[in-house]
Amino acid sequence: MKTARKTMLSAVQPTNPITLGNYVGAVRRWPQYQSDYDMVFFGVDMHAITLRQDPAQLREQTYRLMATLIAVGLDPDACTLFVQSHVPQHAELGWVLTCHAYMGELNRMTQFKDKSGKAGANIPVGLFAYPCLMAADILLYDAHRVPVGADQKQHVELTRDIAVRMNNAYGGDLFVVPELFLPTIGARIMSLQDPTKKMSKSDPNPKSTVFLTDTNKQIEKKIKGAVTDSGSEVTYQDDKPGVRNLIDLQCALTGQSPDSVLPQYVGKQYGHLKQDTAAVVVEAVAPVRDEVARLMADKGSLDAVLKKGADRARERAARTLARVYDRLGFVPPRSG
Ligand code: TYM
Repeated sequence: MKTARKTMLSAVQPTNPITLGNYVGAVRRWPQYQSDYDMVFFGVDMHAITLRQDPAQLREQTYRLMATLIAVGLDPDACTLFVQSHVPQHAELGWVLTCHAYMGELNRMTQFKDKSGKAGANIPVGLFAYPCLMAADILLYDAHRVPVGADQKQHVELTRDIAVRMNNAYGGDLFVVPELFLPTIGARIMSLQDPTKKMSKSDPNPKSTVFLTDTNKQIEKKIKGAVTDSGSEVTYQDDKPGVRNLIDLQCALTGQSPDSVLPQYVGKQYGHLKQDTAAVVVEAVAPVRDEVARLMADKGSLDAVLKKGADRARERAARTLARVYDRLGFVPPRSG
């Protein structure tokens, strides 16, 4: 007997173009699971507005992100690919979960601490409540597995806590409790200028971050200019975070292990490692970048893909939301 496929779900914010960190830690891994899972992937524009965005740029980046998901190999016919704001149930379930999350647990979120520290005097409430919307994203589709980079671990764990809490309160089978799915290598790609910090879209120093829109020359320049560590021997250890980051990048992109890569650098300098890493990154990024450019030239076709995805997503999300509202005791709207 054929058993129903489990659901794999993840999402990316359309703020700035996708980075090499997003690509290696998340997006690039997803297409390989297409035949085994029911796949749900989306661009989270409603998360993006937790910090002020330029509207024209947000629109363009949303298209670019969705084109990138297709360019890396997610098949819009086999997966549910959509934009979060096209499915109003995310905001609706988000509110329900906001009413079941606790101030203390949201206060512990390290991403809130980081981002609110940079937001100045007026910290948007949405930045604080953001993990509730992310929990809604996941629980709406009864997702079993959530592949993310290490920086999202805490949010997925909070989602699990809220799901268990609500299952206990409203009947055990209200929500599927999702599992975190971290990569073994590349879960945390570090900044090229400060390898103790993660590579981030919003880093003010453009040399820190490789974007998937960068030209081959820009990629090579950024990787060859990466800050490395004292000494000159290429080793894979915690006190050499710059060298380790380059080895992680190479290994995540080629599928090799650090142990199998290291022997080729015996007696060689950091410069060799940088050169090879730059070549591996260019080889991975260039075809995606070119395919994104091709897809971006036809927004009409992208719109059609997104409409199909959103139609499918809305139908599923509406079913989950109706189940939740019923358990909460909301009177259903009567038709006619
Ligand atoms: P976002 O948009 O910041 O990042 C998208 C994905 O990229 C991973 N990532 C990294 N991986 C390795 N090294 C890095 N330097 C690096 N930087 C980012 C992230 O872990 C993530 O997997 N809140 C989420 C988006 C989201 C979501 C969801 C994810 C909203 N709803 C539901 C999963 C399920 C975010 O801001 O990711």
